[in-house]
Amino acid sequence: MMKTMQLGVAVSIALIPTFVVAQAPAERKAGIEVRDYPGNTALAERGEALKLKGNVRAGQAAYEEYCAACHLPTGGGNPDGSIPQLAGQHSSVVIKQLADIRSGQRYNPTMYPFARKLANPQALADVAAYVQTLCIPRDSGKYAGPDAAEMVAGGKLLYEKECSQCHQPNGEGVADRFYPVLAGQHYAYLLRQMTDIRDGKRANSHADMVKVARNYNHDQLLAIAAYMASLNTPTSMLMTKGSMCKAGGARKG
Ligand code: HEC
Ligand code: HEC
Repeated sequence: MMKTMQLGVAVSIALIPTFVVAQAPAERKAGIEVRDYPGNTALAERGEALKLKGNVRAGQAAYEEYCAACHLPTGGGNPDGSIPQLAGQHSSVVIKQLADIRSGQRYNPTMYPFARKLANPQALADVAAYVQTLCIPRDSGKYAGPDAAEMVAGGKLLYEKECSQCHQPNGEGVADRFYPVLAGQHYAYLLRQMTDIRDGKRANSHADMVKVARNYNHDQLLAIAAYMASLNTPTSMLMTKGSMCKAGGARKG
């Protein structure tokens, strides 16, 4: 299969007359300078939403109507990693990811139709403001292999070497730079996202993050994810506006 495909490509290249190649005008790259590039739509919407003050109550109503069925009323998502935990995420990050998903730049066919229900940048700001007020659940999915202790210890070293300068030592991210909160996120989701970012499947990723992720093989990403999911950061150590839930409680009391 692979061989025939390669052969096909080689043959069709050989068939293109050289003068065509020589005279072809320099093609403009399909990049951010193109008018309808999805990233431009996302950027414009994100910029507008970030300027607006989110209304937490309006955001709660929208969240309950369009988001809670998957992400749960607590924001906790699914510990199996299929649905991310959102509670306490920086509103800036939520706005960025929503705008990217709505424009198609971050491919998320499951959520896309629901993300499109938000009417305008104000609705994005509202729902993001609400999500940020939810406390970060403590019962996120963890790595449960027999070598968990080893993996977590190895992952800590790697995380502190190349990740914590952006995501911060306690996984709280940086709001105004769109670095997501990772504390309280599910292990399997973290591993999938890092793999997707590394392999170019999450097209909206920060270029520097992609560069860093390329240095790691599967076992190393697994170890880092195991460590990140083990972060159980005291609220006093988080620099976010969010907080960890009190032990035993899922929601802000
Ligand atoms: C049908 C299920 C579903 C619904 C409804 C849904 N989402 Fe999602 N959402 C997902 C899935 C699945 C992902 C992760 C996709 C992936 O793996 O990249 C996701 C990812 C996200 C992310 C990115 C999280 C991160 O850490 O990067 C945000 C933010 C988000 N959703 C917010 C919302 C909001 C706000 C709503 C309501 C307007 C909503 N979602 C409705 C399924 C859903
Ligand atoms: C230059 C800053 C930077 C560095 C270094 C960095 N990241 Fe990120 N990371 C980001 C940004 C920004 C995002 C959000 C993706 C985007 O651009 O939309 C992100 C997203 C992620 C996500 C997805 C989170 C989510 O909620 O969907 C994970 C997981 C992650 N990073 C882990 C790591 C790990 C592990 C390392 C180290 C190997 C690392 N990052 C290094 C900036 C960085």
